[in-house]
Amino acid sequence: IGRGEPIKDTARVLSSYCDVLAIRTFNHCDLEEYAKWSSKPVINALTDDEHPCQALADIMTIHENLGTLIDKKITYIGDCNNVAKSLGYAVLSLGGLFSVSSPKGYEFDSETSDRFLDLGEERFQFSNYPNEIIPDSDIVYTDVWTSMGQEEEKNKRLQDFNGYQVNSNLLDMAKPTVKFMHDLPAHPGEEIEDGLLYDSRSVVFDQAENRLWAQTGLMEYIFSNL
Ligand code: NVA
Repeated sequence: IGRGEPIKDTARVLSSYCDVLAIRTFNHCDLEEYAKWSSKPVINALTDDEHPCQALADIMTIHENLGTLIDKKITYIGDCNNVAKSLGYAVLSLGGLFSVSSPKGYEFDSETSDRFLDLGEERFQFSNYPNEIIPDSDIVYTDVWTSMGQEEEKNKRLQDFNGYQVNSNLLDMAKPTVKFMHDLPAHPGEEIEDGLLYDSRSVVFDQAENRLWAQTGLMEYIFSNL
């Protein structure tokens, strides 16, 4: 790829070597270009826009802990990024409530919000104030404030997200049975309080393990539908 070969040529070559391709890249259009020219299935292993494989593992983890998504309140606090978007699509598609809190300037774009509202008009809730949405949460989820490729914005983001850290005081305001999730790697001291990964309410390491099982299931699903 570093030699500048057009994606359509790389996609043709790689798909002659493999049965399935997993692409992790920045620009979502590049992934779509691979999928267009590949003769084999292409899995989105993360783009700037979406992270559906993470969402599969997240849903599996929520099921393991709550038994169902129906009417369960999944609260996401932080950057409305790729992970948050895919989580929202999955939660709302499966009958859950998706509540989000982000600072101004880091909200979902209007196209995404509209799609969320189409999936469940009364089940998508947004506030710039975490305190307003945290009560009654079954799950509290966060991700890094600075995603891959945004490193130059890090200092600005640290300032802009001040007040959006997920910590034990915030979890205390959710349901007593609340579970905490994060897609890892985390930046303790930024989006989470130091030590929160090891809190008794954290299911983060089960969630990380479930990436293995969910992606295995995805490949099985793909191969059984070829
Ligand atoms: N939002 C993060 C997810 C990392 C798995 C990123 O894109 O860097």
